[in-house]
Amino acid sequence: MTIQPEAYVQSDTPDAAIKRESTPYDGAKAELSAGLLDPSASISPKYLYDTMGSKLFEALCLLPEYYPTRTEEAIIAANAASIASAVGPGRTLIDLGAGNCAKAALLFPMLQPRHYVPIDISKTFLEQAAAQLQRRYPQMRITPLAQDFSHELSLPASVGTEHRVFFYPGSSIGNFSPDEASAFLRRLRQACQADGGVLLGIDLIKNPTLLRAAYDDAIGLTSAFNLNLLRNVNCLLDSDFNVDDWVHEARFNSHEQCMQMYLKARHAVTVRWPGGQRLFTTHETIHTENSYKYTVPSFIQLLAGAGFAHAQIWTDEHNWFAMVHARAA
Ligand code: AVI
Repeated sequence: MTIQPEAYVQSDTPDAAIKRESTPYDGAKAELSAGLLDPSASISPKYLYDTMGSKLFEALCLLPEYYPTRTEEAIIAANAASIASAVGPGRTLIDLGAGNCAKAALLFPMLQPRHYVPIDISKTFLEQAAAQLQRRYPQMRITPLAQDFSHELSLPASVGTEHRVFFYPGSSIGNFSPDEASAFLRRLRQACQADGGVLLGIDLIKNPTLLRAAYDDAIGLTSAFNLNLLRNVNCLLDSDFNVDDWVHEARFNSHEQCMQMYLKARHAVTVRWPGGQRLFTTHETIHTENSYKYTVPSFIQLLAGAGFAHAQIWTDEHNWFAMVHARAA
């Protein structure tokens, strides 16, 4: 086993796991408190992914309504050789928001990365996934890093600077606004040399009926995923959210071509935490996620603005989703 010590912590009780989940978020209390006190209350979607949230996300990816995961996996399966030849062999594959590492693993047989660096905010979940993967690929160098990379990417010296490819599948880039996505891509460009690149999954603009169903499924998994956020916030902020006071809401913003998730108060409720409190009126909402959809040309433009060029695109038969590889310009 060559999992490196940076992030490897054995999990014991659920409570201990929850405490450890809170360690990667420096400044979480201040960020959460500011978001809740804002007149348009919001909580960053990164707080959706404690251990329970990561498992709920993994489960909702299996839903018939949630097309992105299976569509992206089908694109990778159908084009693995061509994707691997665009990326090149012997790369340092840095998997941003790796989760269960399943998508990168699909590429391993063809891609044969020199070093695999899965990064995720959900520490316990990541470590378990990386340990499993290491058992499958005992020769591969795997360095899991528990990190919130949304504002800043800090890679240890053990992750060489040459031949870096940032893998950001699942349309996670859509959880940033286009301006934030552009700044994020610029940070990736700065973090790689002229031999670096990105391999990204993007969700394409499509019929809003399909989108609404994908974010408000019939058996309520997405609702549970969204509501679980409040439990994670209670752990991190010591707040007293009662999940029963809130209901999941998914909206399509046609102007922005963006699916948005909210938590809506069923009735007036006061939420308290050390150093703050907020009265939410009946039906007042907390914004919890944006999921922007792109056209291929608009995304290539975003990449160009951030310093990436030579984009290669793979898509599915319905043009619902695209994988994009681009090289440092
Ligand atoms: C992780 N991210 C790309 C998912 C999305 O589609 O925006 C998160 C998600 N939210 C609701 N369902 C899935």
